Amino acid sequence: MYNPTNTYSWKYLEKYADELKETKTIQDFFDEELGRFEMMSIQEDGIFLDYSKNLINKQAIDLLIGMLREADFENYRSKLFNGDIINNTEHRAVLHTGLRSDKPSAEVSEVLNRIEEFSNKIRNGEFNGFSGEKITDVVNIGIGGSDLGPKLVIEALHHEQSPKAHFLSNIDSSQIHDLMSELNPETTLFIISSKSFTTQETLVNANTAREWVIKHFGGDKNCVDSHFIAVSSNVPKAIEFGINKDNIFPIWDWVGGRFSLWSAIGIVIPICFGMDIFKRLLAGANKMDNHFLNAPLDKNIPVIMALIGVWHRNFMNYETQALIPYDHRLRTMPTWLQQVDMESNGKSVNKSGKKLSYKTGPIIFGKTGTESQHYFFQLLHQGKDIAPVDFIVCEKSNNEIGEHHNIMLANVIAQAKALMVGRKNDKNPHKNFDGNRPSNTIILEELTPENLGGLLAAYEHKIFTQGIIWDVNSFDQFGVELGKVLASEVLELINSKDKFKVRDIIKESLK
Ligand code: F6P
Repeated sequence: MYNPTNTYSWKYLEKYADELKETKTIQDFFDEELGRFEMMSIQEDGIFLDYSKNLINKQAIDLLIGMLREADFENYRSKLFNGDIINNTEHRAVLHTGLRSDKPSAEVSEVLNRIEEFSNKIRNGEFNGFSGEKITDVVNIGIGGSDLGPKLVIEALHHEQSPKAHFLSNIDSSQIHDLMSELNPETTLFIISSKSFTTQETLVNANTAREWVIKHFGGDKNCVDSHFIAVSSNVPKAIEFGINKDNIFPIWDWVGGRFSLWSAIGIVIPICFGMDIFKRLLAGANKMDNHFLNAPLDKNIPVIMALIGVWHRNFMNYETQALIPYDHRLRTMPTWLQQVDMESNGKSVNKSGKKLSYKTGPIIFGKTGTESQHYFFQLLHQGKDIAPVDFIVCEKSNNEIGEHHNIMLANVIAQAKALMVGRKNDKNPHKNFDGNRPSNTIILEELTPENLGGLLAAYEHKIFTQGIIWDVNSFDQFGVELGKVLASEVLELINSKDKFKVRDIIKESLK
């Protein structure tokens, strides 16, 4: 039975990490290794990874690659791309890479064609609202993977959006209230995005939106056909909700929720930007898939990101991982990564259900720079915990205005340097910076659909690779179930009262 801690590499890595911690700083490596920056960076199309600012050297990387081989990584990677049943607890294949393949299967092609046709109809005014008005606003109703990926892409690629995209995810009524007061039901299309079509938040929001539209049209339920479409693997449930079957776009059980951006769940993207942009996003992700499949392990961006993450988590004992994009348009990426990483590798048992003795996925947090410099960088520079950082920055600005871009670049470069080199102050401990704090820097040539697709795919594969080392099933998410079950019990309790105080419900729910 595979257990990473029993491998030769793990044992050696533990000793080696302790030795490095005691004898070296990251700066020492820079002083000693000529060409370290070139050696510890990888360029793949428009994406550049600099991982030189970590307390790691070639010997440790080689050992980590050895560990990956002992985990039978290459075999698992083939299984992922071949569509084998690697989600063992739910007995499913995991084939989001097939959604962005340059040779898609017949079923994927068919849905892509339908998406294209439908998006064009909205954009050129062939599919209009019930009163014949052109659709000007599209509301994606979904949560988790049925919200974050599409939202991130819409924000990142910005363009002239026509129609304009909105995202409705929260059960709190203020979000839908504010949207309804801003939008005109006659010109609004709702996309109900739910793989399962059972998610409470999505269905409650969808019901409220439907009532709002029907009420506007004087109770005529025929209006639903012109204002609601659905994306789901549960087509019968979507039909039961009242969606016209021609307006339902299928996804499949082999598309995990948090990896579903590349499927019809991403339909808001071609509706608002055109199919060409969506295809370019898929093509960028496909390029990264090919790189992940074919590049040597020591020149493989997702593999190296994964190995550094494992080095930090299991051998340096860091608890967290920060993601700081220095591009306003990537502002949702930390939240997106929280779901993809923490829902995938936030596990305490291995694939066979055995309790693990070692640490798995880190706590992910983050926020855009430079804002986060004024929120939590104090702790990153001087706190008791060390949080490795992934900085993300774009070489070219999409909106060159005055000195903004250069000032931003100066900040991101300086922050990574400050974390690493620190600044000694023997006279005043409050002003002392120990340094030796690790980071990666990812540079996108430009924020294009291709580079964005590649970047997101790189993180997906990083997380997959780590799951192989940790021997966890990265594709289930049973941890979210208990809260849902208890919420329905508490709701029953609430509904049994005429009047209640929240504190009384809390007390009673614990009985
Ligand atoms: O939070 C659990 C989860 O199942 C996620 O994995 C998923 O992205 C989200 O809920 C939404 O699920 P659905 O698309 O089925 O509504």
